[in-house]
Amino acid sequence: MNRFMKFLICTFCATMALHAAEYDEKGMKLYKKLCASCHGSPDYGAGQLEQAEWEDLFFMHGQKLLQVHQTKSSLYQRLQKAAKKRSFRHLQAYLIGNASDSGSVGGCDGNRCGITAGAIPMKK
Ligand code: HEC
Repeated sequence: MNRFMKFLICTFCATMALHAAEYDEKGMKLYKKLCASCHGSPDYGAGQLEQAEWEDLFFMHGQKLLQVHQTKSSLYQRLQKAAKKRSFRHLQAYLIGNASDSGSVGGCDGNRCGITAGAIPMKK
């Protein structure tokens, strides 16, 4: 392999790593699907709570997160299904990674732009 090829591969890997560090894209998409209709845009939702609060809600495959939504049975069932899938950990990663004390600042890209508050606040 010549030097140029090595350089290309390194640059590619570094770029990918940077992207991965920004935010969990799969998790953000899952948030849009499952949560945004009530709690607003992804960055807004994630920023409602602190990292430790999200960790607590996601403890044991999101037991607490499910519990708070138990009153809405159709949503509860959807969340129950989602929590059984492997992709659920991406939702957790996204929310913790973008919590109010995470230090990450929401940007603008193909997936998200701006902050829109939701109808239902997560904090009373
Ligand atoms: C159909 C609307 C709806 C959807 C969709 C929804 N929620 Fe909620 N959420 C609520 C309601 C209603 C409450 C309770 C508010 C209250 O008790 O005042 C709530 C409460 C919460 C709370 C506060 C928990 C606490 O400690 O009281 C959090 C955090 C939360 N939701 C996160 C999420 C996440 C993450 C998703 C997506 C996986 C989601 N919600 C999807 C309606 C929704």
